[in-house]
Amino acid sequence: MKRRNTLAALLASALLAVAGGAQAQAKLKVGLMLPFTGTFAALGTAIDNGFKLYVKEQGGKLGGREIEYFVVDDESDPAKATDNVNKLINRDKVDVIVGTVHSGVAMAMAKAARDSNTMLIVPNAGADAVTGPMCAQNIFRSSFSNWQSSYAMGQVMAKRGHKRAVSITWKYAAGDEMAAAFKEGFEKGGGQVLKQLNLPFPNVEFQALLTDIAATKPDSVFAFFAGGGAVKFVKDYAAAGLNKTIPLYGPGFLTDGTLEAQGDAAQGIYTTLHYADSLNTPRDDAFRLAYVKAYKLQPDVYAVQGYDAGQVLSIGLNAVKGDLSKRAEFAAAVEKAKIDSPRGAFTLSKAHNPVQDIYLRKVEGKQNKAVEVAIKALADPARGCKM
Ligand code: BEZ
Repeated sequence: MKRRNTLAALLASALLAVAGGAQAQAKLKVGLMLPFTGTFAALGTAIDNGFKLYVKEQGGKLGGREIEYFVVDDESDPAKATDNVNKLINRDKVDVIVGTVHSGVAMAMAKAARDSNTMLIVPNAGADAVTGPMCAQNIFRSSFSNWQSSYAMGQVMAKRGHKRAVSITWKYAAGDEMAAAFKEGFEKGGGQVLKQLNLPFPNVEFQALLTDIAATKPDSVFAFFAGGGAVKFVKDYAAAGLNKTIPLYGPGFLTDGTLEAQGDAAQGIYTTLHYADSLNTPRDDAFRLAYVKAYKLQPDVYAVQGYDAGQVLSIGLNAVKGDLSKRAEFAAAVEKAKIDSPRGAFTLSKAHNPVQDIYLRKVEGKQNKAVEVAIKALADPARGCKM
């Protein structure tokens, strides 16, 4: 009798082990919600490329699980964002969402992720609220906060001796937050912002605003545009002859992934960003080589952020052996990790935003060349985060 019981127990535990093994091998459903059309289409594609490159380098598995992709083109349209993210959460029942580029869309995603406790990794959108008042155990960012990207440029422009600046951006969360952070950094350094100009996203009719800049006669201009909008703005600024008299600056989105199209108009522009084209570190060189080999394209900051979203997910998943229900252990592992990024190693703050070096870069030819580290290990203030 005793022997029969032991045999039954052995059989039961063997069956459990098989079931457990089968569960560990279930595919991890990853929802990629990114713009594949519109002014940010190239940014979405680079993030998608970067993320998939990292997964391929891991043999197609993260945390021991194969990956199954579910893709939504969010068109950078905040009006469609809630419906789009709910397709991934409710229809596709994804385990984790990676997205997106546009701050307004990202805020709707962060709300849905909080409400449903879905894991979210933001590979670009800088909306301060995502790692501020909306911060959560299940929300991470592999990119930057809008404050981080532009506060640094305010400091740099003041140090370079500028006193009277005009800012120009699209009128939405990212533009508003970058203009405000720039003003904070610039005024702290003794500068004055004469005007904060803007136009609705994603308009590119810059003429009236360029005329306003010429009439205001600042000693410098700070501009945030990205993707197709950045190409048009930099070309229009040069075509109006303003680059001869009023130096143009911005967060690096103004010239990242855009230099081929901007050509001569971008030469000499200084920007601040957490990545540059000439870091010449073994880590970045290896990444760039692999990216060029895989896609026949030069990588940019968006590709790096997509790649690092893969790294964040991988670190967390390895710590929980692929079991995403272990939210606290996943978060603890990511919080204590040093992420070996092509941009240079970084950590995540308690609010889950990168603490990272911000480079001052200068456009030379087709490259955003690193000039120096403008601010070392800059952390977002995470205003309003209660984690
Ligand atoms: C944003 O909306 O947060 C954003 C978009 C493009 C580049 C940088 C930031």
